[in-house]
Amino acid sequence: MAKTRQAWGTRFGIIMAVAGSAIGLGNFLRFPVQAASNGGGAFMIPYFISLFLLGIPLMWIEWTLGRYGGGFGHGTAPGIFHTMWEKSRFMKYFGVIGIFGPLVILIYYTYVESWTLAYSWFAITGRYASAATENSMKSFLSGFQGLEKNNFFSSLAPAYTFFILTLLANIAVIYYGIKGGIEKLCKIAMPLLFICGVIVMARVLTLGAPDPAKPGWNIVNGLGFLWNPDFSALKSAKVWLAAAGQIFFTLSVGIGVILTYASYLSKGDDVVLSGLSAVSTNEFAEVIIGASIVIPAAFIFFGPAGTEAIAKSGAFNLGFVTMPLIFSRISNGAFFGCVWFLLLFLAGITSSVSLAQPAVAFLEDEFNISRKRAVSILAAALFILCQPAIFLLGKGVVNELDFWGGTFCLVLFAAIETILFAWVFGMERAWKEIHHGADMNIPKVYKFIIKYVTPLFLLLILGTWAYQEWWPLIMMKGVSAADKPFVLATRFSLIALFVILSILVKVAWRKKRREVKI
Ligand code: ALA
Repeated sequence: MAKTRQAWGTRFGIIMAVAGSAIGLGNFLRFPVQAASNGGGAFMIPYFISLFLLGIPLMWIEWTLGRYGGGFGHGTAPGIFHTMWEKSRFMKYFGVIGIFGPLVILIYYTYVESWTLAYSWFAITGRYASAATENSMKSFLSGFQGLEKNNFFSSLAPAYTFFILTLLANIAVIYYGIKGGIEKLCKIAMPLLFICGVIVMARVLTLGAPDPAKPGWNIVNGLGFLWNPDFSALKSAKVWLAAAGQIFFTLSVGIGVILTYASYLSKGDDVVLSGLSAVSTNEFAEVIIGASIVIPAAFIFFGPAGTEAIAKSGAFNLGFVTMPLIFSRISNGAFFGCVWFLLLFLAGITSSVSLAQPAVAFLEDEFNISRKRAVSILAAALFILCQPAIFLLGKGVVNELDFWGGTFCLVLFAAIETILFAWVFGMERAWKEIHHGADMNIPKVYKFIIKYVTPLFLLLILGTWAYQEWWPLIMMKGVSAADKPFVLATRFSLIALFVILSILVKVAWRKKRREVKI
C-alpha cells in the first residue's frame, strides 16, 4: 500500500525552506567571484535580465511542476515528467538528471560546507591568527585541505573530522523529515543567517580606507566597482553565460530540488507569491548582503587590480584566504571571522539538505520504502561518493563535478522542463495550473516569456556553449597532464552514476507495472 506523503507545516516554513535552498555558498562566494571576474558592473545587467527571463519563470515552473507531481505521489523529476507525458516511455529517463545533478553537487558541497564549520571554529579559537600574510594564509588552507604538510597541519584529520560532523548534521536533518527536520532547521537558520549577514555587512560598510597613501581604496569605490554599469559587456557571450549560470545556481533552479520541495505542497497552495517571495529573499541575500561583503572588503584592502586578481583565483581563495586575512587586520576580527564563517555554514546546510532530499524522495516515492531506510541508503552512498572530493581535491575532481553537476546539468534540465511544461503539457493548461490557488496573478507578458523567451534563451545558451566549449572540454584543454587521468576517471564515474540511477528508474517502473497487474 502506498504511504501518505509528508507535508510542510506552514507557508512561512516552505518559503524559508526554498529560500534556504537558494541562499547558499553561491550567494556569498560564487556570486562575488563571478561578478568581479566578469567586469564588475558589467555583470549586473545580464544578471538582472537573466533573473527576469530565466530565474523567475523557472522558479514558477518548478513550483508548479512539483506541486502537480506531488498530487500523483511523485517528488522527483522521473515521476513528474512521466506524469506530464505518459505516452512517452523515455521522459522519465530525462528526469534522472533531476536526481543526478543534486547528488553530484552534494558531493563537493558537503565537503566545502564542512570547511566553513571548521573555519568558524578556527576563527574563534585563534587557530589561523598567526597566518599574517597571504602566502601563509594560503598554506593554512592547503595544510587543512591535506594538499601539503606544514606547520599548521600535519594530516587531513581535522578536515575529515569536520566533514563527518557536517555529514551527520545533514543526515540528521533529513532523517527528521520535511516538517520536523528541514522546515524546523530553515525557520531557525534563515533568520540567524540574516542576522550574521547584517553584522558582517555593517562592519564592512563602516571600514575606513586602511592605507592613507591610497584614499581611493574606500568603501564607496568598492561598491562602485560592482555597481557602475558597463553596457559594453552586453556584447560578450562569456559574460551572458556566466550571469545565466549564476542565476541558476543561486536560485537552485534547474537542479531538481525545488520540484521535490514543492511536491510536498497541497493542490490548493499558492505557488505564485510563494515562489516570488523565495526569489526576492534570495536576491536580497545575494545583491544586497553578498555584494556588500567580500568585494568591497577586498577592494579596500587590495585595490581594484588586486580584487580582480583575487576573484580570478577562485571562490575558495576569496572565502578562505582573503576574508580571514581581512578580518585579521580589523579589530575584533576573531568575532567577525567567526560570524562570517557561521553565515557560510548556515547558508550551506540549508542548501545541502535540499540537495539531499531528491534522492531520499525518489527512494521513498518510487520504491515505497521508509524514510529511515531511504536516509540510511543516502548516508552510505554519500559517504562513499564524497571520498574522491576529499582525497583528490587538488586533482581537478571538484572542478569537474562542479562543471557537470553545478553548471551543465542545470541548463540542460531547465531546457527540458520548460519545453515539457510550455509545449507538451501546453501553455494554456500550464497557465491555469500555475494560478491554481494563487494569491496574485502573474503579469500576462510572462505567458509569452515562458512559452517563447525562456526556452529560446536556454537553447541559445546551450548552443553557444556547445559551439564554443564542447570540443576543448572533451579534449580536457587546460587540464594539466598530471590531472588528466583523475578528470577522466571522474567522468567515467559520473556516467556510471547516471546509468545506475537510470536502471533504478527502470526497476521502479517495472515493479509498479507488475503491482498494477496483480
Ligand atoms: N543555491 C545554492 C547556492 O547558492 C546551491 O549555493
